[in-house]
Amino acid sequence: STSDLWGGRFNEPTDAFVQRFTASHTFDRALASHDIRGSRAHAAMLTAVGVLSEDECESINRGLDIIAKEIESSQFDWQVAREDVHMNIEARLTELIGDAGKKLHTGRSRNDQVATDIRLYLRDAIDRILGELTRLQSGIIDLAAENSDTIMPGFTHLQVAQPVVFGHHLLAWNEMLERDFGRLSDCRQRLNECPLGAAALAGTTFPIDREMTAATLGFSAPTRNSLDSVSDRDFAIEFSAAAALLMTHLSRMSEELVIWSSAQFDFIDIPDRFCTGSSIMPQKKNPDVPELVRGKTGRVNGHLVALLTLMKSQPLAYNKDNQEDKEPLFDCVGTTLDCLRAFADMVPAITPKAESMRRAALVGFATATDLADYLVRKGLAFRDAHEVVGKAVAHCVNANSTLEALPLETLRGFHSVIAEDVFEILTLEGSVAARDHLGGTAPAQVRSAAVAAKQRLQR
Ligand code: ARG
Repeated sequence: STSDLWGGRFNEPTDAFVQRFTASHTFDRALASHDIRGSRAHAAMLTAVGVLSEDECESINRGLDIIAKEIESSQFDWQVAREDVHMNIEARLTELIGDAGKKLHTGRSRNDQVATDIRLYLRDAIDRILGELTRLQSGIIDLAAENSDTIMPGFTHLQVAQPVVFGHHLLAWNEMLERDFGRLSDCRQRLNECPLGAAALAGTTFPIDREMTAATLGFSAPTRNSLDSVSDRDFAIEFSAAAALLMTHLSRMSEELVIWSSAQFDFIDIPDRFCTGSSIMPQKKNPDVPELVRGKTGRVNGHLVALLTLMKSQPLAYNKDNQEDKEPLFDCVGTTLDCLRAFADMVPAITPKAESMRRAALVGFATATDLADYLVRKGLAFRDAHEVVGKAVAHCVNANSTLEALPLETLRGFHSVIAEDVFEILTLEGSVAARDHLGGTAPAQVRSAAVAAKQRLQR
């Protein structure tokens, strides 16, 4: 037999493989609760404008209640012949309540229906992601506040550069995440318009109330153009771009956690519950969680490219191509949420090893720039000071010494303005404390930056 849903125009049934090939119910069922929510709003609106009777609306809602329960308890009979989540639910509704079920689709198309469902889904997803992101930020900021005097080497090129405090490093992570929060919030705001009423592409001949459905579903307004409403998935792309950046940030943190937990660095301990062992090497404790997060960044980046490529060159209005938006989008959401959850649990639980960090900061001439700045304060031009200190460092490299271990007489050999007060500026504590301005690594600055960061979380 031809399809119950559009069989009228067809002379032969859909090819069995084509039916499976074009169906999406195996994955778009993730939209079921949003689809039901949208249908309730649409039915209420059709009732308010007199297209449906109160009785019909009531039985639609009753039928949708049953369907929601069937889906939740995995009792729902998903059928490939019904293609997607929308037609599975609608056909089941008609089975349950009869003719009123057939009227639900009045003034509506799957095109505006799916555009609505994805927006509702993504709005919920963003809210959950923002919650986990905030939980992670809160943990990072607390750890930063506890480590405003914990000195570690700061790196450029992964070579020791200048001393910083661990709290300052952590607050750098927080800044990245704070921008991610902003990007996701922007995306949420832009996608929060209701496509219902656009119908297939041109609108509908029924006297619909788009303001009503928009308000019922918590959208800020109806979309302004029916053709655009059913076709563009830019909001999904925008979300994936924000998610890819967020994951990129998590991958950078992951890389640092992996390096820091190695025996060579030994800056932190990651609790056993976030690590796994080796089946052959009894001594191993591997930082699997950050490694996996680093790896999962690749999936999200891939999904972003998939969605961009899917949308590229599509003519107005809806095209079936867009059915392919769902799996990448759902996986972006799931992956990002899982990674945030893992990080929000793990990061606050790491133990910084202050002694190791300090030891690492003592090698590599981390205070060489402080010595150059000292010479500038004594009257040298910065380029000349740079040259003098470069020679002192070269001497230390040959003599296997550190700058602060050189006798004053030796230091004075590099420049006569050097005096006893040089030893204070060569200390790690002196170095960090001297960078005492907005955004600098001085412990006092880091403490107030942590307080300010925590306040910004009360959004
Ligand atoms: N399953 C479809 C999708 O996800 C729903 C819209 C189908 N519309 C259509 N005209 N075939 O895009």
